[in-house]
Amino acid sequence: MKRIAIFASGSGTNAEAIARHLVGNPNIEVACVLSNRANAGVHQRMQQFNIPTHTFSNDVWREAHTIVELLQQEHIDLVVLAGFMRKIEAPLTAAYAGRIVNIHPSLLPRHGGPGMYGHHVHEAVLDAGDTESGITIHYVDEQIDGGEIIFQARCEVCPGDTPDSLADRIHILEHRHFPVVVEEILSR
Ligand code: GAR
Repeated sequence: MKRIAIFASGSGTNAEAIARHLVGNPNIEVACVLSNRANAGVHQRMQQFNIPTHTFSNDVWREAHTIVELLQQEHIDLVVLAGFMRKIEAPLTAAYAGRIVNIHPSLLPRHGGPGMYGHHVHEAVLDAGDTESGITIHYVDEQIDGGEIIFQARCEVCPGDTPDSLADRIHILEHRHFPVVVEEILSR
């Protein structure tokens, strides 16, 4: 059995899509969800799947060794960042090199890097006048949004789009593709 740990800071719709997709899969399971926010929606979303969630303070995330120990105790094969809004620190990228994947709500390298997350990305896409956006699933290394790209999917930016309407279109793409890509990575 391959075991996934999902890191999430917010609503957790991507975490839910992944958990739902893997229900009944005899080879892959979501072992746990780790968050930096005790009141993130992801905690409640995971209850229906009986997936345990844990919250760690910013100090613990910054230092990272506690996180590495937990992942090792849990025999985690793949770390999936699903709306996780903190930088992944060096002890973690070193211990899990090639085994951390992130989803980013734009077509990297466009609109990536420090400060580019969530609605900031959609605002930047609209401010730039881009006619298309999309999603990028990539490996995580020590550079923010800089790791090897695994998968991208595109959507149009429509006249009159707001950050919210664009985010909705992006979420549809994310929920369709992220669970399948995660499953493929673990099936290789
Ligand atoms: C997703 O759109 C994800 O791509 C983005 O946060 C959202 C989380 O939604 N991630 C980033 O911006 C990371 N740089 P969710 O909590 O509903 O899954």
